Amino acid sequence: MARIIAGVAASHIPAVGAAWDNGKADEPYWRPVFKGFERSKEWIARVKPDVCIVVYNDHMSAFSLEIVPTFAIGCAAEFPIADEGWGPRPVPDVVGHPELASHIAQAVIQDDFDLTIVNRMEVDHGLTVPLTLMFGKPKEWPCPIVPIAVNVVVYPVPTGNRCYMLGKAIRKAVESFDKDLRIVIFGTGGMSHQLQGPRAGLINRAFDTRFLDNLAPDPEALVRISHLEYLREAGSEAIELVMWLIMRGALDDRVKEIHRFYHVPASNTALGHIIFENMA
Ligand code: DHB
Ligand code: FE
Repeated sequence: MARIIAGVAASHIPAVGAAWDNGKADEPYWRPVFKGFERSKEWIARVKPDVCIVVYNDHMSAFSLEIVPTFAIGCAAEFPIADEGWGPRPVPDVVGHPELASHIAQAVIQDDFDLTIVNRMEVDHGLTVPLTLMFGKPKEWPCPIVPIAVNVVVYPVPTGNRCYMLGKAIRKAVESFDKDLRIVIFGTGGMSHQLQGPRAGLINRAFDTRFLDNLAPDPEALVRISHLEYLREAGSEAIELVMWLIMRGALDDRVKEIHRFYHVPASNTALGHIIFENMA
């Protein structure tokens, strides 16, 4: 049986990827950011997942206003790196796990969650930056990835509660896959961020801290946060935090916090990161 053994949440700030790719990781501005992930890299090198499920959002790279899937699962064998305006990031292409992804699609759709099946997709910073933060600069990413793309860019976007329930459905689906795989699920994006307009750069440390504090013991409180509340309290792009709730929903009710990191500013946002392991 396949099992989800741990969850990772991490912001996916594109400037972090650019800093890494351009050899700036040791500069005073960026050093603390990468330092916050040193323990995480050691942890994941020890855990050695067989597959990672990465919940992220596409930023108009693979999709556009023409088609806006609420939840999409990448079932391809390979996902090329998107060109977001400066050429594709110099990182390895992402290798998929078509067999597991197709199984999750089958099981989750039969569990009343309608996933869009995507057989060709380029992946952008939403997915690649957390891989860089967790795995550094390998020749190949150390395991296959199942990408799950969530629309948090064009309203209407899914509620936190819907995302949490999807996490639970993903977990059930994984546990009905008949190969022994140890899986880590990522939720990416967040925390406080408002990228444009008069409130650009808005940071609400109290909101972010509450979110980090409640994620393990009381996710049910977090699923009730409305879109308006995310927008008002932590900025228009803070809505990306609903993807952390998919990760949380896929874990046990009781989880152990392994590591936490919070840093302001990175780009004009707050960078948040947390790792949980299932107790069993
Ligand atoms: C930025 C973009 C993002 O997609 C994000 O999640 C955080 C920051 C940015 O442009 O700085
Ligand atoms: Fe983003």
